[in-house]
Amino acid sequence: MALKSTAFRPIRKAVLPAAGMGTRFLPATKASPKEMLPLVDKPLIQYVVEEAVACGITDIIIVTGRGKRAIEDHFDVSFELEMLLQDKGHDKAFEAVRAISDMANFAYIRQPQALGLGHAVGCARSLVGDEPFAVLLADDIIHHPTSALAQMLRVYEEFGTSVIGLQAVAPEEVVNYGVITPEKVRDGLHRVMDLVEKPKPADAPSNLSVIGRYILDPAIFNSLEQISRGAGGELQLTDAIRMMLQGRVVHGLELKGERYDAGSKLGFLKATVALAMDSPELGGEFRAFLHDLKL
Ligand code: UTP
Repeated sequence: MALKSTAFRPIRKAVLPAAGMGTRFLPATKASPKEMLPLVDKPLIQYVVEEAVACGITDIIIVTGRGKRAIEDHFDVSFELEMLLQDKGHDKAFEAVRAISDMANFAYIRQPQALGLGHAVGCARSLVGDEPFAVLLADDIIHHPTSALAQMLRVYEEFGTSVIGLQAVAPEEVVNYGVITPEKVRDGLHRVMDLVEKPKPADAPSNLSVIGRYILDPAIFNSLEQISRGAGGELQLTDAIRMMLQGRVVHGLELKGERYDAGSKLGFLKATVALAMDSPELGGEFRAFLHDLKL
């Protein structure tokens, strides 16, 4: 049975945790933020900002840490660059640069130490306040005509509960994810009955794994304050969601689309090829290039 738990309130704010160390992508991430790696022609984090804004979100809260200044600069107004582009008559480039800072209200909060995703989300508490909000991870590129967050908002609008993004993974891969115990609501939609972070394949309750999109009830902040270090010694967001299940309904939606873990080198390469092939500007020539490789 699916329950409606809270009255529907529009989602206006998104939290983008970007304070991780990016160790899987070293040495590229030694001095540059992982979230600024360019995927075709935009940094990773711009994709999730655009996804959120297209869903009506007006306030983007980015959780940053040491060495992440480039993220703030990217979403800030760049007067010198804009003037130079205008002077030179590069109108298209000017529009593209101006659009970045005009997209939303941007706020930043520091996570003093990379203590885990749960801790990063908790750092945004004062900026989110007492309203439901979205969390988007820039590493997770989900390629589909209807964005992942748009798919999840439909469920949120129907039930008014927290909604987490899911993907069915191969049984041996569950060890890399949070995994749910599902109760089926309908095809692709489940009520989350329990949740475990990084289980061994033999202990996993299913192969439905949590990926980087969440719509969360603000009650999550109280849970985040109560959890202790979990898998990997980190404060895990999944542990807080598990605690929240005691008083709140949470749905899990299997997301449509191809998902790439752009925080890993191979996932990033795959995402680059997939998005470049679909790029209106580069796709034609890029496909011809791939064809000529005769793989
Ligand atoms: P990851 O699990 O990919 O960790 O974080 P990471 O540190 O970024 O990368 P690796 O595993 O060392 O290569 C998922 C998301 O959560 C953020 C990251 O920036 C990323 O967007 N995060 C993670 C934080 O903001 N703070 C943390 O303490 C951990």
